[in-house]
Amino acid sequence: MSIKAVVFDAYGTLFDIQSVAAVTEAAFPGYGEIITQVWRIKQLEYTWLRSLMRRYEDFSVITRDSLAYTLRVLGLPYDSAAFERIMDKYLHLDLYSDAMVALAAMQGRKLAILSNGSTGMLNALVANSGLDRVLDATISIDSQEIFKPAPEAYGLIETRLGAPPAEVLFISSNPWDACGAKAFGLNVAWIERVTPEAMALACVKNDLIAPLTMFKAIRTQMDELGLEPDYRIHALAQLPQLVAAHP
Ligand code: LAC
Repeated sequence: MSIKAVVFDAYGTLFDIQSVAAVTEAAFPGYGEIITQVWRIKQLEYTWLRSLMRRYEDFSVITRDSLAYTLRVLGLPYDSAAFERIMDKYLHLDLYSDAMVALAAMQGRKLAILSNGSTGMLNALVANSGLDRVLDATISIDSQEIFKPAPEAYGLIETRLGAPPAEVLFISSNPWDACGAKAFGLNVAWIERVTPEAMALACVKNDLIAPLTMFKAIRTQMDELGLEPDYRIHALAQLPQLVAAHP
């Protein structure tokens, strides 16, 4: 296999969506973690529901709607200033600490993002993080009006980069996204940031399951969909060596 392009999922893969907890906790002390987890779970759920219903709204609308759902069901009154402060964090998510070095080490291949994020959200996030210095393209699924894991979304990679699926390595930490990319025919490296051992330990350690532990159980373990990634890695830092083995 020759790798001509390395394409990354954005939220959860290059950018840590858990970093919104800083602003959700500041806005609603004691509720930061539960807001962060319910919000992300609902955000993804809405992408799948709107895709199945053929009622597309872009990811900024879905992120707003899922935040509004979360605050409402938790009985948390809010004003628009607090709401906008939390939403703004999505344009300033923490970049994973090994992301910039890993991408810089793979210059020479086409490096891109393929994300459910709207064009505006992604361009702001990439510019704010400085990742635009090492990326060749930032691809939003907006033009297809359907979210990953729909095949139309992954088809944008060849359309925009000119690299056929066999020459692309797709990177995601989201199991559902890794499975979708594999189903489409891409080579896939799944970033398993929460190992099964760590997952099991988190569950038995306390008799009370924290919201983050529940999130990890729902969204970080490989799904039972009959699809397996080609590579399982634990960090972006492992990618340069993996890619170097496929000139
Ligand atoms: C992305 C998230 C939704 O597409 O996984 O960046």
